[in-house]
Amino acid sequence: MQNHIKSKLRFVSLSVITLTYFFVQHHPTFSPVVFWGLTLTGWAIEIVIYTWKGKKAEAFLAVNEQRLRVLDFIFVMGYMWVTGGVGESPYLILIYLGIASIGLYDEKRVGLLYSLLAVAILIAYDCGYTYFYKGMWGTSVYVLSHIFMLPVFGVMANLLIAHFQQIKKEEQTVLDELVTSLAKAIGSKDSYTLGHSTRVQMYSLALGKELGLSQEEMFTLKYGALLHDIGKIHISSAVLNKTGKLTEDEWLELKGHSMEGARIIGGLKKLKGVRDIILYHHEKYDGRGYPHGLQREEIPFLAAVVNVADSFDAMTSSRSYNKPKTIEEGMEEIRRCTGTQFHPTVAAAALSLYQKGKWPRFKQTDHCEEEEYTYDMV
Ligand SMILES: [Fe+2]
Repeated sequence: MQNHIKSKLRFVSLSVITLTYFFVQHHPTFSPVVFWGLTLTGWAIEIVIYTWKGKKAEAFLAVNEQRLRVLDFIFVMGYMWVTGGVGESPYLILIYLGIASIGLYDEKRVGLLYSLLAVAILIAYDCGYTYFYKGMWGTSVYVLSHIFMLPVFGVMANLLIAHFQQIKKEEQTVLDELVTSLAKAIGSKDSYTLGHSTRVQMYSLALGKELGLSQEEMFTLKYGALLHDIGKIHISSAVLNKTGKLTEDEWLELKGHSMEGARIIGGLKKLKGVRDIILYHHEKYDGRGYPHGLQREEIPFLAAVVNVADSFDAMTSSRSYNKPKTIEEGMEEIRRCTGTQFHPTVAAAALSLYQKGKWPRFKQTDHCEEEEYTYDMV
């Protein structure tokens, strides 16, 4: 998560705690001077962090993120101590952790878990408190007012979540544009590969849906399928555009595109799954593929999905030196090569989609320059 978002989150979480104590100022040990002293100091620090922008601020926050988090926590603990918020402490600690956890894990369920835990501990604590002072089990009337406050925190947590979802959406758009630009870069060198990659993406997504992949896996598949041949940007045009049979050296150069593609994408940590698809999309189920000769479940599953989509498109695309197969013939080849080239589960999904009439269909272009053809090697 971006640092300025973290600092905003810190500001909001401390504000929530400050406001909460505003409501408990009737507590017997409450001291207005210390209360407002700490409140204003805390807010001032957070406002400075909140509004502080620029590269130096980014670097400072990146280095000191954990320390600032600990300082926040110490601030909250000190705050509780001076305001004597004994009864509310477990409740507020958990709320604080709940809010902070959204920032830490960016996951709704962790925040929700802390909130539920907060209710359980609040009631248990109140029961124990009542028993200790009144000698009877039961909750005090105050527990109700505290529980009624939980929706307020729920609303705030939801606002934060909505905010993060918006940020995530914006990041997604940037990533989409970046990946499309990369795909277009290879397209400017070799127009066939761009069309091929777009079709492979459609086939892969249809397969992913049929296989019931998670949303995250579908994202990885979407990018991996589109970029699977990005390494071809490194291959010489003479080899890429050669219509005749390739020499052994040329073939070796062409085969290097999966390693080269993985190297290009390798620096982007967020795209690790995509890198694996690019690196292993020419591996075969029986271990006769490249670059590492992985077999069966050693091959990342998403790479096996793209392998089927890639091979099908290579078989059925128009080629200047190879008559394209019909969709029916392509499906027959998938059936024939199940368990040798293709992962049986993926192949079965392709055949099932075809039988249900849900396999994507494209208008075939009438020319292409190249496609290395793993299928030919079966
Ligand atoms: Fe490839």
